[in-house]
Amino acid sequence: MSIDYQQKIPNNVDLANDKALQRALEHWQPAFLRWWDEVGPEGTSGYDVYLRTATSVDPEGWAQFGYVRMPEYRWGIFLNPAEADRTVAFGEHKGQPAWQEVPGEYRSNLRRIIVTQGDTEPASVEQQRHLGRTCPSLYDLRNLFQVNVEEGRHLWAMVYLLHRYFGRDGRVEAEALLDRRSGDVDNPRILGAFNEKTPDWLSFFMFTFFTDRDGKFQLSALAESAFDPLARTTRFMLTEEGHHMFVGRNGIRRIIERTADAMKEAKSDDPARLRALGVIDLPTIQRYVNFHSSVTVDLFGSDLSSNAATFYTTGLKGRYREQVIRDDHVLKEATYPIFEVANGALITRQAPALNALNERLRDDFMQDSISGVNGWNTLLQKRGVDFRFTLPHKAFNRQIGPLAGCKFSPTGEVASDAQWALGVRSWLPTSEGREFVQSLMGRVVEPGTFANWISPPSSGINEQPVQCQYVRFN
Ligand SMILES: [Fe+2]
Ligand SMILES: [Fe+2]
Repeated sequence: MSIDYQQKIPNNVDLANDKALQRALEHWQPAFLRWWDEVGPEGTSGYDVYLRTATSVDPEGWAQFGYVRMPEYRWGIFLNPAEADRTVAFGEHKGQPAWQEVPGEYRSNLRRIIVTQGDTEPASVEQQRHLGRTCPSLYDLRNLFQVNVEEGRHLWAMVYLLHRYFGRDGRVEAEALLDRRSGDVDNPRILGAFNEKTPDWLSFFMFTFFTDRDGKFQLSALAESAFDPLARTTRFMLTEEGHHMFVGRNGIRRIIERTADAMKEAKSDDPARLRALGVIDLPTIQRYVNFHSSVTVDLFGSDLSSNAATFYTTGLKGRYREQVIRDDHVLKEATYPIFEVANGALITRQAPALNALNERLRDDFMQDSISGVNGWNTLLQKRGVDFRFTLPHKAFNRQIGPLAGCKFSPTGEVASDAQWALGVRSWLPTSEGREFVQSLMGRVVEPGTFANWISPPSSGINEQPVQCQYVRFN
């Protein structure tokens, strides 16, 4: 399973022995590089960036670090090793051998799943392309670029599946993945959150905390797939995903830390006073949490979904940690609680578990997000600051599913139009708040120096010092 770096396209799938596939992917490669040049990180082609590159799929020591120009990054195709005699863990094919090829009857559903996942990867690179201009430090700039090149590699992961297993249709889809553009009116990315702007670094850290975490849960569900190449590909993607969430969690933590220190020093929690000191007041951060959490929660789709039921029953997409769940893994009889609005109140009712799989994955996601929020609160507690962050209620600010169009406060109380109009300024980012955050965005590129609104990290990357020159501009 070692990676062949002698090839034009590094891979561990023995591409050299499938000439037709190799040719097709080598044809897609320059189109990918043109896409990177056009809408990847702006104006960075000459930078040497201290990046990690995957060298094997062994969980111990799978990557090496070194200075790389991003257009020369070795994007490639890396699958986790095959599990001998792997069987399907759920649905109507439970217990049968995992599939090495795509069953004809599931072809269009599988292609749709792969395309939807694949579309999010280049979308996030496009959303983040201007952020380099306003980096708070070289350390953060490097982390942004690391996330970007790995999202590019995730696109490669999905494109390999399309080319290898879906023939002409797959090749057409692979091209379309390079044609859609985040936020484009005529040809947007597939999912809503991937057409939103990422205008500032607070948004970027929120995105990597919440939206990359959505990625973790989608990939975890696909890592259970009966279609073995998809399972193996997504398992390796999860290895890379960990760093993206780390960037978000620690980025937000460092912003909170800086603000907490300023609050202690100024003996004040007055937002206006703190803003004047050039740090981001905690209520503003909470509003960003509310916004990004709710937008990401929508990404899991409708609470009740017959597609989700079909994907599960046919073995295409499992549940988070399917193998450790103790039930029959068929779910024909099982139920799962979902929310509903009845007589102006939020109530819980039991729905068929098969149809509620989106809701279940959403709950797993929220559970996982809470641990990050708790970490920030521990920091505040240690510093003697009274403020506590919370995740908004699952019903807050929803645009998808039966709760869309109903208004709820972040604590889950039904809000009348008047209550919403009154509350929304303290619940979601305001234009003044966004402008203030934008006003802090400068460009700090002196090694070891950090923008005023964020604390330095406690350690550097790969045991390098914090003041390392992580990016050389040349
Ligand atoms: Fe990704
Ligand atoms: Fe990611």
